[in-house]
Amino acid sequence: MLELTDVDAFYGNSRALQGINLMVGNGEFLSVLGRNGVGKTTLMRSILGLMDRVTGRLSLDGADISPLRTYQRAKAGIAYVPQGRGILPKFTVRENLTLGTFAAKSAGGIEEWVLELFPVLKDFLNRYGGNLSGGQQQQLAIARALLAQPKVILLDEPTEGIQPNIVEQIEDVITRLNRERGITVVLVEQNVAFARRASHRFALLEKGRVVAKGAIGELTDDLIQLHMAV
Ligand SMILES: Nc1ncnc2c1ncn2[C@@H]1O[C@H](COP(=O)(O)OP(=O)(O)OP(=O)(O)O)[C@@H](O)[C@H]1O
Ligand SMILES: [Mg+2]
Repeated sequence: MLELTDVDAFYGNSRALQGINLMVGNGEFLSVLGRNGVGKTTLMRSILGLMDRVTGRLSLDGADISPLRTYQRAKAGIAYVPQGRGILPKFTVRENLTLGTFAAKSAGGIEEWVLELFPVLKDFLNRYGGNLSGGQQQQLAIARALLAQPKVILLDEPTEGIQPNIVEQIEDVITRLNRERGITVVLVEQNVAFARRASHRFALLEKGRVVAKGAIGELTDDLIQLHMAV
């Protein structure tokens, strides 16, 4: 399980997260919700070791991961699908996928089951990443993360700015990764309907703090109105 205890995170001297306590059990699906600028991406970056400074405790399966560098956290089983996808535009689809395999504990290559989740990638293996549509790039980013053989996958707004027909496919794949493959999911979303359908638990952020959390059934319309309406 992934656990954050009293986590604060800083950009320089500016504190972007304060006193975060969160836990996601093995095989669970946690959605992290909140308006723009509340600290959702900062939370992902803190888990990955990409912040200037993080205090408090971060553990994976009981082991403290705070001292680990980002690549070591990846090897320990934490994969990341960043907001904006982070595809290398001048690398082919195959090369982008190969980068994902480097983070795997045991060298597995580009596994067939991952390509089968996203048949379009199989057809476009030799195309440049930059020539894919936004939705296809998002699929590539998810596939790349899966090739690292993660225990936990962190997804930062994977449906943001994507055509509705592909959104549905992406939601379906993320849900199945959790339900059928048992991969633990931490999903950052502003898409509440998807979070409700897919998650076991939720956390709502406001100004760098967790203001509500619990079983997904406890995410009431009042809470959404209070913490997500713009
Ligand atoms: N590189 C940075 N340097 C300084 N402050 C930053 C930096 N990145 C983000 N912040 C600040 O940290 C706070 C949290 O930002 P963060 O990107 O985590 O929000 P978010 O919830 O992911 O927002 P969004 O929904 O727009 O993606 C904001 O106040 C933001 O201005
Ligand atoms: Mg963000």
